[in-house]
Parts: sequence; structure tokens; C-alpha cells
Amino acid sequence: MISIPVHVWLPGCADPASAGVLEVDDRSVSFTYGADYLTAGGPSIVGELPARRARHRQSSNLLFPIMQDAGPDSWGEMLLEKRLQHQPTQLELLTLCRADGAGNLVLGALTPDRFETIEIETFIGILNQFEDLAQTDEAYVRLRAIIKEAIDQGTGLGGAKPKLELSDGGMRYIAKFPDIHDDPYLPHVESAMLKLASQCGIQVAVAEVKEVGDHRHPYCLVSRRFDREQLASGVIGRIGYASAHCVNRVEEAMRQYSANELTEFTLKGYSSVQLAKSYPRFAENMRRWCIDREAWESDVRELWRRIVFNALVRNTDDHTKNHGLLCRDMATQHWRLSPAFDIVCGISDLASPALCMPYLYQRAVRHGRNPQAARLVAKANRQDLIKAAVLHYGYEQDEATEVFESMRQIVRSGWREQMITEGMPDSAISRYERNLDRDIAKTWEESD
Ligand SMILES: Nc1ncnc2c1ncn2[C@@H]1O[C@H](COP(=O)(O)OP(=O)(O)O)[C@@H](O)[C@H]1O
Ligand SMILES: [Mg+2]
Repeated sequence: MISIPVHVWLPGCADPASAGVLEVDDRSVSFTYGADYLTAGGPSIVGELPARRARHRQSSNLLFPIMQDAGPDSWGEMLLEKRLQHQPTQLELLTLCRADGAGNLVLGALTPDRFETIEIETFIGILNQFEDLAQTDEAYVRLRAIIKEAIDQGTGLGGAKPKLELSDGGMRYIAKFPDIHDDPYLPHVESAMLKLASQCGIQVAVAEVKEVGDHRHPYCLVSRRFDREQLASGVIGRIGYASAHCVNRVEEAMRQYSANELTEFTLKGYSSVQLAKSYPRFAENMRRWCIDREAWESDVRELWRRIVFNALVRNTDDHTKNHGLLCRDMATQHWRLSPAFDIVCGISDLASPALCMPYLYQRAVRHGRNPQAARLVAKANRQDLIKAAVLHYGYEQDEATEVFESMRQIVRSGWREQMITEGMPDSAISRYERNLDRDIAKTWEESD
């Protein structure tokens, strides 16, 4: 049996409190709140783990989803693997990564090395020393080495792109770099998309492109962390975060994937894993996480605008870890949609893009001559998007059509301007023309 301390940053507190202990053995996973935490009136860390004197057991031997969100994905894992010289276990990932993961939980010992953060000024300062030399190969290599060293500290943040947490004293930021094979202007594209999304009535992360050095991969996107806040005392507080992956309990659905899956698919027309990875399921689950009905309705309507935006810009990377909720009130467990992030437009030829998460669940139609199986729709076209707005996301048909048309207009007339404003050269912008100047087909027939 392994026992791991779980720490939580309570609202308004600069220092973490010890919330309880995670216990893991071959067959079971459980979490127990500490007696002191409960006596002091500590709130539930998440609704699914109510603050009471009982051992919370996971039905499967998977870790609690909210705790998984506190640790890294492939990028952080790769760095930790290099450091440990072996493939980290899931528990190593969570307890040895830097304590800069999403949300307000940290697992394992709080050793000082897990808290080191580079000041933005220091980081940019180091890079600037090389500015004059940056045209030479030697400087390029040294510059890359310095960026790499800073990045190599590792991160508890998710995602696959190289990234590190930066501070400017009063706030925390995430600097994200394009991968070696990516368009070097990817940070500009992401920044442009976030601004365009904001014009479409979507709440977005505050981010800007920073120039960080040489002429080959000179830019990164610096995004202000929405799960951190500056407290009155000037220190940093942390806010709970739960990805859609956590909210929809995707790992559990995948674990339950069984030999029956094929039958299930044939009978239902979709699998339970696909459903767990879908927007309608996220919208439905958000109702439990958001205690205020009006707030939930408003968030679900915004979720639909995010779906439409992803479709319009051909962002097909809208997976369950690229959406999430922020805890607005721990005491009442009130969670709201987090600002949108990680939106980039695709460049492959996509008339009607297939979103990563299905957005429309159509029930089986049992009557009539041609009974139709239920289906989960991921391929985006105007007709189905509007149908989904009415079925799942709280719109009337006319209103959905109006919002769709206005977003379509904003994207089509504004994307180029936004990329120019970000400082992208024409040659880089033209790669996005094919998709962004194009309409989403009106129906399946027209699109195929
Ligand atoms: N502005 C932000 N504030 C707080 N957390 C963020 C922010 N942007 C991203 N994240 C978190 O960091 C993770 C990785 O960021 P993301 O932009 O998705 O990187 P990648 O492109 O590598 O997937 C996200 O899944 C999310 O949990
Ligand atoms: Mg991501």
C-alpha cells in the first residue's frame, strides 16, 4: 500500500492545506480526508469527494480523475522520463512533477524544487543576450540549449507541446512553444484564434505572442493562468480546475471498454467511450457541477458557440483535455466553464471537419418505415450544428441560426486581419486560406 499526501490551496490562501491521504495498492484506490482538515471545516476538494469522515473508494483501481488533472501529459511525462531514466508510473508522474499543474491540488511531498519558477524577465533577459548573435548557427545552438534547460525543469501541466510556467512576480503564465515540426507561427495562429473567438462571444484565456530569440523558432505563446489569482497580499492563490476528461470520467469509460463493445456499438450505433468523450455528455454533467441553473444554461450556450467556432476554424484538436471547468466556490462546489484555450485552425483540406468530440446525439427513431439507429455526430455541418443547438445547448432554432451566421461572418471577415495584427507574414497566412475562407457545408450531401 502506498500512501500519498494530497494538498489543496483553499480560496484566498497562499499556502496549501493538507487535505488528506490517497492510498493505492494493486487492487484499490481510496482517499480519506484528514481529521484536522475536517475539524477546521475544510470544504470538499470536488463534489464527488464530499468532505466527511469516510474512506472514499474508487470503484475501479483508477486514480480519482480530479487528481489526474493535477499532473502532466505527454510533454511533462517525457521530461520526467529523461530525469528518472525510466518510464514514470502514474503515481511518479503526479508526485515528482513540478507543482505547477492545473487546478489547486498537488500530490506528494512539497519539496522546494517542485516550486521553482522562472521570472518572465529573467527568461526573456537570458534570451535577449543572444539577440545580436542569433543569426549564427553557434548562437542558435546555445539559445536552444538555454530554452531547453529552462523547459527541462519539467512541468505538471498537461498537453504535448513544449511549455513551462513563468512568473512575473504577481502572476503566473504558461509559455508554450511550437514543436520542432510545427508551423513556427503557431503561437500567432493560436493568439489570433483566441481573439477571434472572443469576438464571437466566447470567454478566452488572455494570451499574447512573445518573441524569444532566433530566426527558426522565435516565438512562443504566453498565456495568463486562469487557475491562479493574485491575492490581496500579493501572493498567488490557486483555483480548482477539472477537465472535461475528468467531468465525463473518460478513463473509467475506457477501462470498462469490453468485449461487449462491438455488440454495444452495433446495437446503439455508438460506444459508451464515444459518449463519454462527447459534448452533450459534458453539457449534461456540467449541470451537476454548476449549482446555479441560470449559470449552467449560460455556460452550455457558450459551449455550443465554442463547438461552432472549432468547426468554423477547423480546430479538430478539441479533445476532452482542451475543455474544462473552474471552481468558483469550493464551499458550495460551484463550477463554471473555464476560459477557452488551445484553439488552432487546421490546414489540411477540410470542407466539413470532424470535430474531436461529437457534438450531437441523435436518438434512435423507432417508428416509420426506416428505423434509424442512434448516432453521435462529430462531422460538422451547419444543419447538424443548429440541430444540436436546439437539442442540447438551450437555443431556439432561429436564434441558433442567427448566432451561427454572425459567428461565420466574424470568422470569414476577420481571420486574416487578426493574423496580420499578430504579425504573421503573408506567406504564413496563406496556408490557412483554404479553410478559413471556406464555408461549412450546409448538409451532409453538399459536403461530401
Ligand atoms: N491560460 C491557462 N490557464 C490555466 N491553465 C491552462 C491555460 N492554458 C492551458 N492550460 C492548462 O495547460 C494544459 C496544456 O495547455 P494547452 O494549451 O492545451 O497545451 P497543448 O497545446 O500542449 O495541449 C491544458 O490542458 C490546461 O489544463
Ligand atoms: Mg491542449
